[in-house]
Amino acid sequence: MKGVILAGGLATRLRPLTLVTNKHLLPVYHKPMIYYPLEAMRKAGIKEVLLTTSGDHAGDFANLLKNGEEFDLRLYYAIQQNAKGGIADAISLAEEFAGGEPLLVFLGDNIFSFDLSEAIARFTAAGQGAMVFGVHKNTESKQYGVIEVNAEGMAVSIEEKPDSPKSDIAQTGIYMYDAKVFDYIKSLIPSGRGELEVTDLNNKYLAQGQLMCEIIDWWVDAGTSFDELLAANNQVAKMVAEGKI
Ligand code: G1P
Repeated sequence: MKGVILAGGLATRLRPLTLVTNKHLLPVYHKPMIYYPLEAMRKAGIKEVLLTTSGDHAGDFANLLKNGEEFDLRLYYAIQQNAKGGIADAISLAEEFAGGEPLLVFLGDNIFSFDLSEAIARFTAAGQGAMVFGVHKNTESKQYGVIEVNAEGMAVSIEEKPDSPKSDIAQTGIYMYDAKVFDYIKSLIPSGRGELEVTDLNNKYLAQGQLMCEIIDWWVDAGTSFDELLAANNQVAKMVAEGKI
């Protein structure tokens, strides 16, 4: 399995912090935000990671992260030309890099400490399909994709920011895909906000009965607002003080 970390976007919601830098380079307590998904890749045993970002800050990532030695992995870079293309558009940049291998994908501003090894074993045993990771949240806030899961751990519905959420399980920015992902992305059409939506992509797998779901304990979407960024800083500071990370 190979890794992909999505670190593009304009981060307009975090201006002026993001006027001259990329949000994934902002600090979360004692480290730049991008360190957390890289450390999560290492913990998951991934050896090769593609980082997708925008051209304007790619040099800053290269200066900071180099070839990935500090994280015991080999790091590659891809430039997302269209910053507003959406998550599925950014994943499509990984087609050549993936070379037919399955992918573990993280949104670069997602912070969590969940051990993914059992989920990777379940995904690998299934042999095909995709996996999403949910967390119990207030899904009435219309910030998240919302997942309904059955007793077998299979997603039965997934809706992007619904008016009437069918569950309290929010879709996080952690995903696993088999090699069919690129053909599915090619069949997507842009949503109302002009993006190729990860939820539409995941629904392709769901329609085949191939969308697995795991629930994780805690997760912070650090790059969505000042409050979430502060919450991420506080969460990490607390866990460092408790010796948990
Ligand atoms: C995206 C996804 C959404 C998911 C969220 C997690 O939303 O579309 O399903 O719950 O990431 O961070 P966006 O941040 O693009 O609005």
